[in-house]
Amino acid sequence: MLAETDIIPDSQGEVDQETGEIFYREKIEKPNTPTFSKACELISRDISAYFKENVDVYEHIPAYSSGTIISDFKNIKNLKENTVDVALGVRSTVYLENEDYQNFIVDMSRKLSKDGIYIDDNVRENFGRRYRVKELKEIEKNCSTEIFVLMGPGVANEDESCGDVFPMALVMTNSSEKLQHIQENLRIGWKIVPLSEVLEQKLLKVA
Ligand SMILES: C[S@@+](CC[C@H](N)C(=O)[O-])C[C@H]1O[C@@H](n2cnc3c(N)ncnc32)[C@H](O)[C@@H]1O
Repeated sequence: MLAETDIIPDSQGEVDQETGEIFYREKIEKPNTPTFSKACELISRDISAYFKENVDVYEHIPAYSSGTIISDFKNIKNLKENTVDVALGVRSTVYLENEDYQNFIVDMSRKLSKDGIYIDDNVRENFGRRYRVKELKEIEKNCSTEIFVLMGPGVANEDESCGDVFPMALVMTNSSEKLQHIQENLRIGWKIVPLSEVLEQKLLKVA
């Protein structure tokens, strides 16, 4: 397969507005060099000669620098309280759902240091299918910080037109200075509002 494959699907797909089906854009990724072709050929001929079972490859390659923790998001509960200065989530914690998601957000609020800040796009589910606004309002009751929402122009062909702006990311912090800093550096067309204000806007698909 490896020797024969030329096209690798992109991770970004597009939603068919009528059926909801996701179409993956395809893009050619395979480098067109003799060395790469040779490597593919050798590996595909006998993969077991190159990869051993039950071996943790991270022990052999410097894939992450010291101080980096690789773990399940759910393990954030094991961190000490008030220790996280900055946390950023990009297209990742949105995969946590229901109780896992609720616990994660509450845990994160408690792990933030006094002026710590957490920004994450998990308020908007992939392809703008749903915004976790009502759910977050419930979660906020158990959090040690207020939740704000970054509202911005949606993604073309994904967010349905039900206003000018859509919930794109959440912000948690107790630092008014940091909130002001965000406010002053927003792109045109974006705004940051308390979660409760988003609910008042009666957006479609809010859950
Ligand atoms: C769509 S990718 C986004 C990666 C990167 N943030 C980006 O924007 O390119 C989703 C990532 O979330 C990670 N992920 C999903 N659920 C996770 C969990 N419970 N704990 C840790 N990582 C998780 C996946 O392994 C994957 O790397």
